[in-house]
Amino acid sequence: MGLYSERAGLIDSENAFRIGPLIRLLEEQGRDVVRCNIGEPDFPVPSFIKEEVKRQIDLDNTHYCDPQGIPSLRAAIARQLSETRGIHAEAERIVVFPGGKPPIGLCQQTYCGPGDEVVYPSPGFPIYESFIPYVGATPVPLYLKEENEFSLSGEELASVLTKKTKLIFLNFPSNPTGGVASPEQLQEIASVIRSRCREDVRIFSDEIYEHILFDGHSHHSILSCPGMEKNAILVSGASKSFAWTGGRIGWALFPTREEAELFKNLNINYFSCTAAYNQEGVRLGLESPEGMVEIRKMVEIFQMRRDLVVEGLNAIPGILCLKPRGTFYVFPNVEKACRNLGIMDAYAGLPERVREKTSPSTLLQMFLLFVHGVATMDRKSFGRIGAEPFHYLRLSIATGTEDLKKGVERIAAAASDREGFRRFFAAGEHFF
Ligand SMILES: Cc1ncc(COP(=O)(O)O)c(C=O)c1O
Repeated sequence: MGLYSERAGLIDSENAFRIGPLIRLLEEQGRDVVRCNIGEPDFPVPSFIKEEVKRQIDLDNTHYCDPQGIPSLRAAIARQLSETRGIHAEAERIVVFPGGKPPIGLCQQTYCGPGDEVVYPSPGFPIYESFIPYVGATPVPLYLKEENEFSLSGEELASVLTKKTKLIFLNFPSNPTGGVASPEQLQEIASVIRSRCREDVRIFSDEIYEHILFDGHSHHSILSCPGMEKNAILVSGASKSFAWTGGRIGWALFPTREEAELFKNLNINYFSCTAAYNQEGVRLGLESPEGMVEIRKMVEIFQMRRDLVVEGLNAIPGILCLKPRGTFYVFPNVEKACRNLGIMDAYAGLPERVREKTSPSTLLQMFLLFVHGVATMDRKSFGRIGAEPFHYLRLSIATGTEDLKKGVERIAAAASDREGFRRFFAAGEHFF
């Protein structure tokens, strides 16, 4: 018997949180680091929401509350979902969680066990993959392809479905690629699900970036497709839309009241409830027209930065970057840059035990961070299984515009710094 259970060793993590200490270490040494690693808007929470939260605290709304989520917030979510998805979302089927992240693991614990297959996008939000071994299920990565603009066709989904499929994660607009699925693709996906999946298969539609769309595009949800309300769980939250990652408010609409009750009980077991004063802030954010006004202002800035960064990256030899349609990430293909810098050869020469922990894009990520002062995320931070042939970085554009310009200049300098990479590699440190 050891200290930890076998299960405890099976959960992975989210590298975006793990790179923070490395950045702090460099900053303590007096180095300047451009932070393109962070997955949160660099804007304050809209003032009208802040005022409401302060008012609620002054009203002493600081106690336990409904573990399912306060009824007024659930009613506001139900209205917003019904209006924007053309569905009938009832407050009784909605559960509020401390963020959009908890339902990811809780759904796996609730619906999946040994023998069940969990389908998830790769590259994708790392927590989908992280939980699968923890619950004893089998991971089935669904590789999203650059040539399809990281979208997903019905055919691609069909190719990974089996009788054992139990839970399917979808995430549009998508982290880390910014890819979206068109309404036609969603119809195709829904049609595959209707014809190939049993009634007890659940679709986890992670729509947390629903408002962060560019070029006038609007959001489309799989739940708007016929029959999907019966199978799909819609997840969203306030972290991205209201630039409020620290407020920890997310929610899920479940297919049945019975499932919502079950998740309410999980909330009772894990969290008791979610801070009522923050829930009131989100309620006002959803109810007031000011909410969308503030979101639009933020999205306009993200779009301007996206244009600037994509253009800057594409001007760098060896880097190819698609123009994402949503989110605040760009996901350049850096394969040629890795070749130009000698990273592929350096990686191939590493002992197997080191190679297992790193990848060419990880070496580039570390070279950019430690030598050129830009923090990015490597490809395998967004799904490790089968990531070997793919060479990408994720850059967050939720960083000040001037910093982003500086970041792109530093990446350009790094991309031609073959000698710098040789020295970095020869020092034998920070390979992962
Ligand atoms: C796709 C996706 N889902 C869920 C989350 C979790 O959001 P929250 O901070 O609300 O837990 C994130 C955060 O980065 C995300 O990118």
